[in-house]
Amino acid sequence: MTTASAEVEAQKQAAAERALELVKPGTIVGLGTGSTARYFIEGLAARVRHGLTVQAVVTSRESRALAEAGGIPITDRADGSLDLAVDGADEIDPAVNCVKGRGGALLREKIVAHASRRFVLIADESKLVGRLGRGPVPIEVLPFLWQATGRSIESLGGRPELRMAPGGPFKTDNGNLVLDTSFGTVDAALGVALHAIPGVIEHGLFFGMARAAIVGSGTGLRVLGELP
Ligand code: A5P
Repeated sequence: MTTASAEVEAQKQAAAERALELVKPGTIVGLGTGSTARYFIEGLAARVRHGLTVQAVVTSRESRALAEAGGIPITDRADGSLDLAVDGADEIDPAVNCVKGRGGALLREKIVAHASRRFVLIADESKLVGRLGRGPVPIEVLPFLWQATGRSIESLGGRPELRMAPGGPFKTDNGNLVLDTSFGTVDAALGVALHAIPGVIEHGLFFGMARAAIVGSGTGLRVLGELP
């Protein structure tokens, strides 16, 4: 690992460690997906081994495997409200809006974030942007006539590209496709317009959902928004 990438990993881990302080015993915690969420899951597993009682809902097969390996009890029901969800992000703006889904788990991530009383982002400082839209917005679409869905997305000013995996199109845990779509600039209204397109299952714009972002930086942790 280069010094630069070791520094990025240290920032992710420091953010995850701070978020672990928000976990309350006896609650249901939402576990995100990705390389930053992984530090949170591993840290939570260590606390469970030391006697912390929590249950978790997971946002992907990847996170389920990590949680199971770490001995974190998993539930697929949310009879009570989820207390806290912690997840990474691809871009975070100063108002703690974010783009998610470059790992492909955006649908379940958004369901869990929406269902949680407190949704907190964790990230390294490379994720901070002045304005969302630096990179493409991942959009999960039904495979049925996905090209037509793509044309509807183009009519909103997007340039959709089908995400590929080795051997063919990338499939989400839900069996759907992802159109990585550059828009230039994005806003909450675009999210509403995307939801109106039949065939769009969910998009990676998370406006007004996170209460705070804990961001590792070269000079220590930064908090955007208010830690709940
Ligand atoms: C997964 O679908 C994504 O939303 C991730 O949370 C996001 O891509 C951040 O991932 P990293 O922590 O690996 O950068």
